Amino acid sequence: MQHTVGVGVLLFVFSFYGECSHFRGGTISWKPIHGHTIEFTFKMGWTFGSGPGCSNSKIGQFVNTTFIGDKIWKCDQGCKVPKKPVGTVFYYCTGANEIGSDAEKWEQGENRFQETFIGNGPFIISYTGAMWMNLDFGNPNGWNLQTTIDLRVRDDINSTNSSPITASKPLYTLQFSCYHELKLPMYDPDGDLVKCRWAVGKECDSVCHAMPSASLDEDTCTLKFNTSTGSNYTNNGWYAVALTFEDFPTKTIHVGNEQFNETTPMSTVPLQFLIHLVGKNSPCNWKPEFVSPTPPAGTKISISAGKSFTKKIYAANLANKKET
Ligand SMILES: *[C@@H]1O[C@H](CO)[C@@H](O)[C@H](O)[C@H]1NC(C)=O
Ligand SMILES: *[C@@H]1O[C@H](CO)[C@@H](O)[C@H](O)[C@H]1NC(C)=O
Ligand SMILES: *[C@@H]1O[C@H](CO)[C@@H](O)[C@H](O)[C@H]1NC(C)=O
Ligand SMILES: *[C@@H]1O[C@H](CO)[C@@H](O)[C@H](O)[C@H]1NC(C)=O
Ligand SMILES: *[C@@H]1O[C@H](CO)[C@@H](O)[C@H](O)[C@H]1NC(C)=O
Repeated sequence: MQHTVGVGVLLFVFSFYGECSHFRGGTISWKPIHGHTIEFTFKMGWTFGSGPGCSNSKIGQFVNTTFIGDKIWKCDQGCKVPKKPVGTVFYYCTGANEIGSDAEKWEQGENRFQETFIGNGPFIISYTGAMWMNLDFGNPNGWNLQTTIDLRVRDDINSTNSSPITASKPLYTLQFSCYHELKLPMYDPDGDLVKCRWAVGKECDSVCHAMPSASLDEDTCTLKFNTSTGSNYTNNGWYAVALTFEDFPTKTIHVGNEQFNETTPMSTVPLQFLIHLVGKNSPCNWKPEFVSPTPPAGTKISISAGKSFTKKIYAANLANKKET
């Protein structure tokens, strides 16, 4: 009798854990500050109400509502202390969607932390937990976001590498039964060549290749997929994308004693996010397109910290360009 009660309680705890921890991806990048001190910047998304507590009324504020599951970035490889905690996942609230079904609601935030390493590495910093929200392809379960760090000096810049930087929304809502191309932004502070590829193995945990028959242009990081009838995509379907970005030197260099060239990556950063397909009666090209004088895609604009930036952007319907 007592045995039965014990099992019941255990099952309850597991299902509670699964329902409450709805991870929606994120990214992390890093740069050297001085010596072996590295500053990490991360961005993360959660199902609204399941994360650190971002909402539309708290944008810009630090939020640290506690939630079920791990809340710590750890050193997964290379540190003397195994699984050394290096930062929390609490963050400054940057955006939230509080309307729609529970699945459509999300929150997102970002924050930084610093860590002083011993030795040159390589190190892996990661954030691992369970669970992803329910998906329509694959078996969503645990997540892992990780980045690799090499602190050896590059002989072309006489200093330590900085990782590439990327970003996305936690959720892209796209029209079902259409062909889509999604170009993800990427940038490298050292001017290195950046490419993206599908995350593999531990890099993506339960959401590796969770986009049916999608292809990836690694040079421009453009994800291409056709959700038309007959594909493995379903109306109202939810899908996770897990990518890894890498930086390559544009010429042969030495990092420590090792030679690197345009085929050998110096670091890796993750980008994970969700796609939701929604059926509509309108044609596939019935969507907004940015038009001049909006700055072209990929334009880089530098803004000093703390300063605000204003720029007007213009959009037209792709199916009827005369309507702005
Ligand atoms: C949340 O942050 C505030 C302000 O930094 C701090 O006083 C408080 O102890 C934090 N709470 C938790 C649960 O970390
Ligand atoms: C790096 O250091 C070497 C040796 O001191 C020097 O010759 C080279 O010009 C430096 N390169 C840069 C980019 O600072
Ligand atoms: C998407 O798939 C549909 C059905 O197989 C096909 O007719 C259409 O040409 C495809 N679109 C693209 C851009 O590949
Ligand atoms: C759908 O998925 C199944 C199982 O992964 C695969 O065998 C099939 O070829 C896929 N169909 C299309 C149209 O991609
Ligand atoms: C790049 O480096 C790798 C590993 O050191 C080496 O095998 C390869 O031949 C190099 N490629 C070029 C174009 O130098």
